Amino acid sequence: MDVILQSVSQPAAHRLMIYASSPHLQAFPSEQRFCDHAQEIGLNESDFKGPGLVLLQNCQLSPSDLVKHIMSCFLRGYIVRIYWCTCTTADINNFSFHVKRMLMDLEGTDQSAFLSGEGVLKASKKVDMESDSLDLNINYNSEKFMVPNRKIRLQTFPRELAMKLIDEIPELEGAVHDFSHSLYVVKGDGLIRYGIGKGEDMYLVACDREALLKGAVARACLKLEEVLYVKGITLNSHMLVLDVGAAPGAWTEYLSKKVHHVVAIDPGKLDQNVLAGNVTHICKKAQDSMADLVMWTTGRNFDLLVCDMNKHPVEAAEIIVPLLKFLKYGSFLIVTLKFHGRGKNKDDKVGELKSIFGASLKEMDCIWLLANSIYERTFVGRRK
Ligand SMILES: C[S@@+](CC[C@H](N)C(=O)[O-])C[C@H]1O[C@@H](n2cnc3c(N)ncnc32)[C@H](O)[C@@H]1O
Repeated sequence: MDVILQSVSQPAAHRLMIYASSPHLQAFPSEQRFCDHAQEIGLNESDFKGPGLVLLQNCQLSPSDLVKHIMSCFLRGYIVRIYWCTCTTADINNFSFHVKRMLMDLEGTDQSAFLSGEGVLKASKKVDMESDSLDLNINYNSEKFMVPNRKIRLQTFPRELAMKLIDEIPELEGAVHDFSHSLYVVKGDGLIRYGIGKGEDMYLVACDREALLKGAVARACLKLEEVLYVKGITLNSHMLVLDVGAAPGAWTEYLSKKVHHVVAIDPGKLDQNVLAGNVTHICKKAQDSMADLVMWTTGRNFDLLVCDMNKHPVEAAEIIVPLLKFLKYGSFLIVTLKFHGRGKNKDDKVGELKSIFGASLKEMDCIWLLANSIYERTFVGRRK
């Protein structure tokens, strides 16, 4: 079935679209094909904010599994609504008629087939109401399509569509509480997409980043958590980690709770609470820390190198390349990069960076994380 995700902003929708299209990034479950195609819809050139909608065509995950997945990871901070759509019409002015017809068709359908997509489409052949044989056109005003124990909540984009639906299908009422089903209607790209789902699968999250910040030491940690998640990098209690550009210490604190030891380099101060027993602060610039690192890595190199100095790519590379000899073969480098322009395409600079790192790193990738600002990207590579 087609699924439409609504995110907090258009740039976030763009990144969700990339995640849904990139099997090598594990933002969405990928054991099976997640969806056939992902695209932003309803884009209006003059509106920078945009509707924030991403269409996932033929999504393979069931509604309850998709909701469970989103709620269990960083995605919950960026997706505010989900619409499950089994039908599409270009007849925008009369869309209420099509929605009503779908609801009438459903009365003759096994409720468990509601979300199979197929169930919805086949329903038109299976209409079996108490009334005489049903001619949809003649019975357009029939009130019988609302079975007594079915209360429907409307979830529409834009919201005005709900008013139009209620005006034209008064039986809908638009329940807010104790609803058994949700009716989804989305307008975009000259089409209306619609469908109906079980009430318990409705996903409606306030646009509230506080929820996401719970458990994260600071906003900075969202980047680290997200990149570890999408690259499938797991931390464990045996790891020795190098954190470059570590102050005031949110990443260091996050890491120190999960790994054996963190060596944090920064000429600036680390917060007092970050200086736990398994954190060593080298209070210098990275370029001046070579002797300390040789001492630290005697007999053992780092299992992970993270760097959040937030420098322009080439400047970051100049500082990081000499540090790569302290990273174990096969281990990951994660670097936040800061660009001057806010354009989406950073290919030139990223290409330059890949050629600088190419001698020491493999599997290089530059990701626009949802937690990155529009100027930032996060670079990942593995020591070869
Ligand atoms: C954005 S902050 C890092 C925030 C940190 N990740 C956290 O979670 O708190 C960037 C830090 O990089 C440090 N920095 C800049 N240039 C550096 C260098 N050459 N060597 C080491 N640290 C550097 C700055 O002192 C600053 O504290």
